[in-house]
Amino acid sequence: MKKLFGVIGNPIGHSLSPHMHNDLFSLYGIDAHYHPFLVEKGRLAEAVTGLKAIGAAGFNVTIPYKTEIMPLLDWIDPLAKEIGAVNTVVNRDGKLAGYNTDGPGFLKSLEEGFPALVDPAILVIGAGGAARAIYFTLEKTRPAAIDICNRSLAKAQSLVGESQTGVPSSALSIEEAAEKINEYTIIIQTTSVGMHPQTDVSPIGLDGLNKQAHAADIIYNPSETEFLKQARLRGVKTLNGLGMFVHQGALAFELWTGIKPDTDRMRKTVLKQLGGAKC
Ligand code: ATR
Repeated sequence: MKKLFGVIGNPIGHSLSPHMHNDLFSLYGIDAHYHPFLVEKGRLAEAVTGLKAIGAAGFNVTIPYKTEIMPLLDWIDPLAKEIGAVNTVVNRDGKLAGYNTDGPGFLKSLEEGFPALVDPAILVIGAGGAARAIYFTLEKTRPAAIDICNRSLAKAQSLVGESQTGVPSSALSIEEAAEKINEYTIIIQTTSVGMHPQTDVSPIGLDGLNKQAHAADIIYNPSETEFLKQARLRGVKTLNGLGMFVHQGALAFELWTGIKPDTDRMRKTVLKQLGGAKC
């Protein structure tokens, strides 16, 4: 029988995940379908019970349900627990297991985009859900330091306070981080600033940025945010969020099927949907 996969969220109409996963199912000859499900506010528990009842084999979870879904699952992976968000669910014999592939997906993209960086000093801009996934994943790679700056400093302080690894980590205001921007090897932009309608705004000033630095953004549409443009104009290597999106999907696909999918092909599928934008 055809297996059912999907993504639940609100809004969900623009999700590119169905294209990416359905293409992989046909590539690997798997009799399955991946469907976007719009879940109305207040109806998440019903939706999860329904997916379980009809035997859905697995699903992704996106905004705004990544945290709210956690108490509805039977088991949660330790990294997802630490991050406080689940984006991938696997149905194992009727029990729902939750994972977070956003952080590990970002790490894979970073390793691919900026290979061979040793003991980097990292600055993360933002302290929301995406920043949490990246922070708890990257701190386990034991960087020289991982600082967080955020518009609301208290949120950055609270995130740094949860760290268990002993990796040097400070919470900074955006202005404090901008002043010492030349000290970082990698600067990671995780806020929504740079997406429509704020396409000509960078959340941080990059004057003084070191040419040897690396700038990564989790946004992939537009393919080059103002933050990345400013970094590129200063001669810095840049990486947009397409790799993170592809790799979080690839890790979810592997959890569901045991197959490590062709990420170049996934990238092409997404780019085609985006209308041939360069990423
Ligand atoms: P996500 O799950 O995508 O990370 P989120 O949890 O809502 O989304 O987090 C959004 C992040 O973008 C936060 O760090 C937010 O800063 P605050 O904690 O101060 O709200 C940041 N952000 C959003 N709009 C911003 C803006 N105009 N300037 C600076 N930071 C902004």
